[in-house]
Amino acid sequence: MTHRHSVAPAPSPDPSSPTYREAYSRINGVVVVGEGLADRHFRRLARAIPEDGAELLRLGAMEGRHARDFIGCGANLGVRPDAALAKRLFAPLHALFQVCDRTGDLAGCLVIQCLIVECFAVAAYRAYLPVADPYAQPITAAVLADEAEHRNYGEQWLQGRFAEMAAAVAAICRRALPVTLQILQAVAPDMRAIGMDPADLVGSFCELFEQSLVTIGFSGAEARRLVFRSVAAVPLG
Ligand SMILES: [Fe+2]
Ligand SMILES: [Fe+2]
Repeated sequence: MTHRHSVAPAPSPDPSSPTYREAYSRINGVVVVGEGLADRHFRRLARAIPEDGAELLRLGAMEGRHARDFIGCGANLGVRPDAALAKRLFAPLHALFQVCDRTGDLAGCLVIQCLIVECFAVAAYRAYLPVADPYAQPITAAVLADEAEHRNYGEQWLQGRFAEMAAAVAAICRRALPVTLQILQAVAPDMRAIGMDPADLVGSFCELFEQSLVTIGFSGAEARRLVFRSVAAVPLG
């Protein structure tokens, strides 16, 4: 039995170095702005789906807490989130959500928030967990459990209406996945600087998202096709 060690382990990043802190500020900005948008999206969904209004407001409030918790993780390192950059990066995805909301495309709204944003969050926090500092580690672990619950809400809602929603789900995937992957692409060098592997994150995002598509009713082949096209279009630098 042979063990190959062709690649030396990356040196562990130093949270007190300027490089780390600048990268952390941009990553933390994406996290905090993403959580804030999730809060707004759930509040919009609470109006659009009044029968689940109380539940959706509860999920939105969880997102508001996540945003505050992650601002605390930055503050603990003496770093403030770069919100301006993150807002620019999230603008196309948020704009798509607003178009879906205005046109009554509920499937589109749910795919964007509960499947895309939540799978993105789960993949990102899973990738961050092993390199998180001791303050951020338990916070990230707790948030991860919440995001799984949010993803579950969207999966159940869409699963119960799959026949009538399938075409709308496929359509929003084609539009929203590329703009989501562009966010990842933009912060890939910063992820590397804090010890995360962006290719790993994209891999786990695709896996989670495909699982969601299968859970709501697509075949494995259909799910892979929907995801693969978008990923192939946005290479990681
Ligand atoms: Fe969250
Ligand atoms: Fe969430």
